[in-house]
Amino acid sequence: MKNFESLSLKLKNNRLHVIDQTRLPADEVWLEISDVDRLVEAIQSLRVRGAPLIGVVAASFLELEREKGKSASAFNEMAARIRKSRPTAVNLMNAIDRVLRGESGEDILEEDVELCNKMGAIGAELIQDGDNILTHCNTGSLATAGSGTALAAIKSAFAQGKKIHVFVDETRPLLQGGRLTAWELERVGIPYTLICDNMAGSLMQKGRIDKIFVGSDRIALNGDFANKIGTYSVAVLALFHKIPFYPVAPLTTLDVKSQKGAEIEIEMRNPNEVRGAMGSFGTVTWAPKDSPAYNPSFDVTPVDLVTGLVMDCGYFSQQELLKGCLQSLISLK
Ligand code: MRU
Repeated sequence: MKNFESLSLKLKNNRLHVIDQTRLPADEVWLEISDVDRLVEAIQSLRVRGAPLIGVVAASFLELEREKGKSASAFNEMAARIRKSRPTAVNLMNAIDRVLRGESGEDILEEDVELCNKMGAIGAELIQDGDNILTHCNTGSLATAGSGTALAAIKSAFAQGKKIHVFVDETRPLLQGGRLTAWELERVGIPYTLICDNMAGSLMQKGRIDKIFVGSDRIALNGDFANKIGTYSVAVLALFHKIPFYPVAPLTTLDVKSQKGAEIEIEMRNPNEVRGAMGSFGTVTWAPKDSPAYNPSFDVTPVDLVTGLVMDCGYFSQQELLKGCLQSLISLK
């Protein structure tokens, strides 16, 4: 494969490296993904994360294995293991299916960069000078091979000279907003304010949020979508406060097998993530050791709460989504 370098992954002399996102923002540590065990561990522990990125990394890894001349059975076995590593982000399954159909991992990687640029350009049109924008989780260069999804729209508006301010939900339990989005925004110089997730409603009530941009891990054909836990609460608050709410996602996040959001499998994670917090600061536990804890990694936001969906191939209003416009995109996939 061609050499490639982004904030989240590097391909050099046919070796694949990812930045360990569990160590950010304190340490920039790169890990070589040299075998399938390492890849599965890195995906499950969120060292590498973000729906488009895990698809791209899986495709790149499989491409390198194919180039090494792996037998068909060993190759298929590896693909099956990677497919099961995280269940919600459909980009992973979509990318693996494409490699198994013979598409090259390199094309999938390059395509992701292009999709980010397109979402950035279309999303930026929705952002006006002076806007205060709320975002959730991390949807930037750490979640894709390019500039991101929702964060690409924000970066692109900023690059156009629009004076914007971003409120970043810290995103409990794994703090992707506080650790990763804050770090990315700082690197590109976009003004931001970090908030705890439960502060978003109060900011909306005070009229301090003009627009909300989030990513997606899987979009059903009716426009319902899964994203990081907490997205649904933000969407409900947005409707009450009449604030435009936009998911941003590439075509690779569309699940042609799910008619509606209720069909999307939601990953359940280790209760310890709720009993405390872990990251570059170490592990802190504040709850009683065996507290019963509920830890779904994602929730589903129904299309009724969506103002419009930004994709690489265009902008779709809620009305268009309700009329079933996503069905017509199946042929593009
Ligand atoms: O569990 P994560 O950190 O992989 O969850 C990521 C998200 O929920 C993002 O919003 C989503 O992948 C879309 S961003 C490109």
